[in-house]
Amino acid sequence: MENILIEKTENIAVVTINRPTKLNALNKATIQELNQAFKQLNEDKNTKAIIVTGSGEKAFVAGADIAEFAHFSVEEGEKLAAEGQALLFDFVQNLETPVIAAVNGFALGGGLELAMACHFRIASDNAKMGLPEVTLGVIPGYGGTQRLTQLVGKGRAMEMIMTAKMIDAQTALNYGLVNNVVNQEELLSFTKDIAVKITKNSSVAIAKAIQSINANFEEGINGYNVEIKNFGNCFGTEDFKEGTTAFLEKRKANFPGK
Ligand code: COA
Repeated sequence: MENILIEKTENIAVVTINRPTKLNALNKATIQELNQAFKQLNEDKNTKAIIVTGSGEKAFVAGADIAEFAHFSVEEGEKLAAEGQALLFDFVQNLETPVIAAVNGFALGGGLELAMACHFRIASDNAKMGLPEVTLGVIPGYGGTQRLTQLVGKGRAMEMIMTAKMIDAQTALNYGLVNNVVNQEELLSFTKDIAVKITKNSSVAIAKAIQSINANFEEGINGYNVEIKNFGNCFGTEDFKEGTTAFLEKRKANFPGK
């Protein structure tokens, strides 16, 4: 991979977007590589949590690569958004393996959209977040109008997108856009500690929980029914047998992940 780094420690993978001279801007090649990386990590049942971050101290991701789309036609613009959403943003949102964004600096445009597609976000205190697309004469195209609205509410999403302003980490915390704010030096270790807690639980149950929570935001889908079905399915898993047996035997569960 040319634009990303993958580091695995035990069952946690850290995916680092590595184009620091371009503030880790998402070009087509990086989106393809991220798709491959998430696919492979998700297939590897030994990977129980994934952390996504940006290379360097300045940026998580400063957006889609503006140089790449500056001359696009209407059709090419629509294709860019559709392919990007399918390959990366929807893909990450619906991944069975938990994905946490460690936002270590600028998360703008496609960068904030990527962070928002992750299952939740932790930010460093120097992080700056925004959707500045209207300054370029375009709108967010990687799900930003939808996910920002879901996460911070309609009024704040309208204001952030119309003004194109960047919000700081503390404001993002107040908005519920990020779950925690920590010093930049502690960001990865703090996020890894959360990931470790996740890896101790049933990965099968977690995958079903992700699917059930996401169902709340899907048009025409009754999330309660998805929850009922997934709840029932858990009873047929080895993880459920192990989890309930371990509880009754007063010991820690050792989930097989099946
Ligand atoms: N796409 C392509 N290149 C980008 C980029 C993006 N989204 N964001 C930054 N870069 C590049 C710059 O062009 C520059 O490259 P160069 O050194 O070859 O000229 C390099 O990254 C460093 O950025 P620079 O603008 O010099 O850093 P800065 O500290 O002065 O400003 C930002 C930082 C984030 C405020 C500024 O880079 C910026 O506004 N980026 C675009 C944000 C944006 O609109 N994103 C939404 C895209 S849809």
